[in-house]
Amino acid sequence: MSRPDLSSAPACLLEVQQVTCVYGGFKAVDAVSLSLQSNEMLGIAGTNGAGKSTLFAAIAGQQRAHSGSIIFAGQDLTKLQPYQRARQGLVRTFQVPREFKSLTVHENLMAAAPNKEGEQLFAALINTAGRREREQALTEKADSVLEFLNFLKVRDVPALNLSGGQKKLVELGRVLMLEPRCILLDEPFAGVNPVLIEQLSEHIVKLNARGIAFILIEHHLQALKALTRRMIVMDRGVILAQGDPQTILDDPRVQVAYMGGVA
Ligand SMILES: Nc1ncnc2c1ncn2[C@@H]1O[C@H](COP(=O)(O)OP(=O)(O)OP(=O)(O)O)[C@@H](O)[C@H]1O
Ligand SMILES: [Mg+2]
Repeated sequence: MSRPDLSSAPACLLEVQQVTCVYGGFKAVDAVSLSLQSNEMLGIAGTNGAGKSTLFAAIAGQQRAHSGSIIFAGQDLTKLQPYQRARQGLVRTFQVPREFKSLTVHENLMAAAPNKEGEQLFAALINTAGRREREQALTEKADSVLEFLNFLKVRDVPALNLSGGQKKLVELGRVLMLEPRCILLDEPFAGVNPVLIEQLSEHIVKLNARGIAFILIEHHLQALKALTRRMIVMDRGVILAQGDPQTILDDPRVQVAYMGGVA
């Protein structure tokens, strides 16, 4: 499957249409619709269990939607596997980082690269030179991602020795290896120290300026307000409110449901 021709990509990059996700008989996401423009940065907030991560899983493909559609760059991806959606440029990070603990930071990024010919026996036997060339290109790509993230200093450190915040940076690095058009970030700032939050935010802003669209899940409404121009608040599987951050912060329904009455 080839990547979309970005020059002809529609202004509306992602459309989530009436998506419902069910666990057993329980609707974790109930007929949620949203759209994301190319280059947009959208925030999603909501109480614990509101369905935010499940919605991400439905968009990125880890969770099969019970009903509804996921349209990305004009294509219906609803029935595709996560790796197929990633090839189209739609990727996510996880609330709990999923790094390979015994691999170094650099190796973790390399492992995220798609279509690794080295894993295919036939290709490995007949095309050693081509494989080496590709490995070299991937090595350089991983180094350039680490350089962008200002993370070369821990290039050869095993992931198990990283702090929680550093693991979130590795998560971002891994999805950047896939050259995404849209990144879904699930609580990138949770458990991260303020200095790293600042750095992560700067990277996100820079990537967004380079044309990558983002959806960010974040509990902290003020943090979302600083980064986004549009926010959605979810509650018990549905969208409770959406709009510009100040309107959301002032919305009494949000204050009651989300903050217990205090924004
Ligand atoms: N694999 C699962 N099996 C059954 N129920 C699940 C599963 N994953 C999530 N749930 C339930 O679905 C609902 C939504 O969960 P989800 O993780 O999407 O919420 P969330 O908004 O991301 O919450 P948090 O802010 O705590 O991360 C919750 O009630 C949760 O207990
Ligand atoms: Mg979650």
